[in-house]
Amino acid sequence: MTTHTQVAIIGAGPSGLLLSQILHLNGIGSIVLERKSRAYVEGRVRAGIMEQGAVEMMRRAGAAERLDRECLTHDGIEIALEGRRQRVSFLDLVGTPVTVYGQSEMTKDLANARLAAGGDIRYQAEDVRLEGLDGGRPRIHYVEAGAQREITADFVAGCDGFHGISRQSIPADKLRSFERIYPFAWLGIMAEVPPPSDELIYARHERGFALCSMRSRSRSRHYLQVSPDEDLGAWPEQRIWSEIAIRIGDPDFGVLKTGPLIEKSLTPMRSFVCETMRFGRLFLVGDAAHIVPPTGAKGLNLAAGDVHYLSEGLIDHYAKGRGDTLDRYAERALARVWKAQRFSWWMTCLLHNFAASEGFQNRIHRAELEYTLSSRAAQTALAENYVGLPY
Ligand code: APR
Ligand code: PHB
Repeated sequence: MTTHTQVAIIGAGPSGLLLSQILHLNGIGSIVLERKSRAYVEGRVRAGIMEQGAVEMMRRAGAAERLDRECLTHDGIEIALEGRRQRVSFLDLVGTPVTVYGQSEMTKDLANARLAAGGDIRYQAEDVRLEGLDGGRPRIHYVEAGAQREITADFVAGCDGFHGISRQSIPADKLRSFERIYPFAWLGIMAEVPPPSDELIYARHERGFALCSMRSRSRSRHYLQVSPDEDLGAWPEQRIWSEIAIRIGDPDFGVLKTGPLIEKSLTPMRSFVCETMRFGRLFLVGDAAHIVPPTGAKGLNLAAGDVHYLSEGLIDHYAKGRGDTLDRYAERALARVWKAQRFSWWMTCLLHNFAASEGFQNRIHRAELEYTLSSRAAQTALAENYVGLPY
């Protein structure tokens, strides 16, 4: 049996669920196909900083009730340069704060909102294949509990992340990709201890980058720059804590609180953009089309921007019979994506140590960070980008 839906959405991460819910609230039907189980999707540890625009999207989706109650609002960040900490106040510089709320919590809230509204999310949908994307009616094949299934749709939204099949379904001669792989990775930890400061601390140190972030007032999320092939076994808890302490300029543990780790993982660092973000009736959204290094916390926020532009295009198409907004999706989304790519690359360069053989580059980056910390104009540019450029 073949089911028809207006928009078939591949992937139930933040992009897919947010899109599905906003479409629903505008009278547009969708089916979401997700390869993994709900527990797996919601258990993934991801970043936790939301721009105002992403928070607004959650409100528009009617899924912000817990976020509004439990989130932390941060008016700025601290930057430690070789151990000396300085605050950058977003509120003073650009009048906008950022919101701290775990991405897995956001995913749970969206799935709950979707299911409460009778949404159709098909978890553990295996072997999804897309056909007829450049024709009038795409077909989506997948396997559910061993049985072949088929859906037809007016449009397909590829919200299936960097390793998904949507981007891979576009013929190679129809797209161009741009990529930079960085010569380091982040070792991330989660611990049930209060964070060392009320706001995030980003540190540049000759031993490498460090970041003290948080999920709540009692749960810390910290990162350390390590090599991409680092052996996590070489990082017992004590070594991790003392390295963070040194890099943020707190070697005597005056503010850094330690405790048993709940999670420890390695994140590779990459910048990637796929042009175009549209092929026929397929639209790429979020990580399926672009990856940023996590330094500027832009991954989720870019996904929210894409959903904003795509939902606007689909609403205009169905409600007003206007196709031009949808036709401009890739152009509008990519303009914002490249600005966030530039910012994420810039933050990454300024805060990390490249190899000793890159001595000149390392000194230039350090000088640029020193300059930024000494200039209100430069800090304003940082703040404007960190809190998020307008949609
Ligand atoms: N078929 C169905 N689902 C798939 C397939 C596939 N072939 N491949 C991947 N998926 C699912 C993944 O299991 C995942 O749940 O697509 C989802 C993609 O979700 P994310 O990777 O979270 O990507 P996105 O929703 O665009 O979110 C962007 O969240 O993932 C973070 O770092 C990312 O912060 C960024 C933001
Ligand atoms: C996080 O809390 O996981 C986090 C915060 C800020 C970043 C990256 C990750 O820049």
